[in-house]
Amino acid sequence: MYDPTGQETLCPAGVEDMTVVTNERIAERIFRMTLAGNLVDKMVCPGQFVHVKCGSGSVPLLRRPISISDVDADQQQFTMIYRVEGEGTRLLSRMHPGEQVNVLGPLGQGYPIKQRKSGEHAVLVGGGVGVPPLYYLGRKLVEKGVRVTSVIGFGSREQVFLENELKELGDVYVTTMDGSHGTRGLVTDVLTVGDVDPWDVLYSCGPIPMLKALQELYGKEQTEAYISLEQRMGCGVGACLACVCHPSEETRQNTGKRYFKICSDGPVFGLREVAL
Ligand SMILES: Cc1cc2nc3c(=O)[nH]c(=O)nc-3n(C[C@H](O)[C@H](O)[C@H](O)COP(=O)(O)OP(=O)(O)OC[C@H]3O[C@@H](n4cnc5c(N)ncnc54)[C@H](O)[C@@H]3O)c2cc1C
Ligand code: FES
Repeated sequence: MYDPTGQETLCPAGVEDMTVVTNERIAERIFRMTLAGNLVDKMVCPGQFVHVKCGSGSVPLLRRPISISDVDADQQQFTMIYRVEGEGTRLLSRMHPGEQVNVLGPLGQGYPIKQRKSGEHAVLVGGGVGVPPLYYLGRKLVEKGVRVTSVIGFGSREQVFLENELKELGDVYVTTMDGSHGTRGLVTDVLTVGDVDPWDVLYSCGPIPMLKALQELYGKEQTEAYISLEQRMGCGVGACLACVCHPSEETRQNTGKRYFKICSDGPVFGLREVAL
């Protein structure tokens, strides 16, 4: 069961016009944007996200949620990595250094890492645009002396990103659906074949089918594992109910909860806590 007190101390969210430092294409439809501003001081919990106003006009009206992928506290800069999906992310991809982006955050509950001890082994499992938050998480874990192994999956070689950066933190296994890079298949194929050493904790973020497969693999064991859900959002702060998901039967019985708001109760949950 996810315990929010396991996170680093949460800072209250703020809103700020942040300055674009870099915005570059790093893979097929994937961009890395670095932004500078005072909000960075609050971004201490890996797994949290920012709610970004894409574009200066009223279209798109709603902000778009993007994970915090890395933080450089000394430079007061943070990085987000996003895939161009629709109008919001397309507008973001056209922004240039020096321009301003209105950012609300950091939001949500991050990955619990306070209880991690030096010498433990953590496995990070990411798929597609679920990989970005795992990089900041991995850096924080390595700072604590935790050994990190990453298992990351993509559609094809052209879509792979963060492989080299994650290699600086520990072992990395890459899978692609078409076999054009790394192992052909799914991240769960790597986990089941037994190449990854036994681990103390698993942290994951990615598409629902991948998270479901993790639930099937590890959901019946007393394994310590956490997943982050990437749901469509409205307000991002728990007010509009656009992002609800259902607790698992076990959670419902233990807590009486009938729904979770992913933006404020999550996006990180215990593996067995939610029904996917
Ligand atoms: C907590 C959180 C963290 C996220 N972190 C990242 C990140 O680090 N990098 C990243 O690239 N994306 C991330 N996302 C997803 C991102 O928010 C959406 O891709 C984005 O809002 C799309 O906006 P758009 O205007 O470009 O596309 P839209 O025009 O809104 O949608 C275009 C297409 O994408 C689909 N889509 C939109 N949002 C989602 C979603 N949340 N999940 C699945 N499909 C969606 C729509 O159904 C539609 O088909 C995150 C989402 C959440 C909730
Ligand atoms: S997005 Fe409004 S309650 Fe979650």
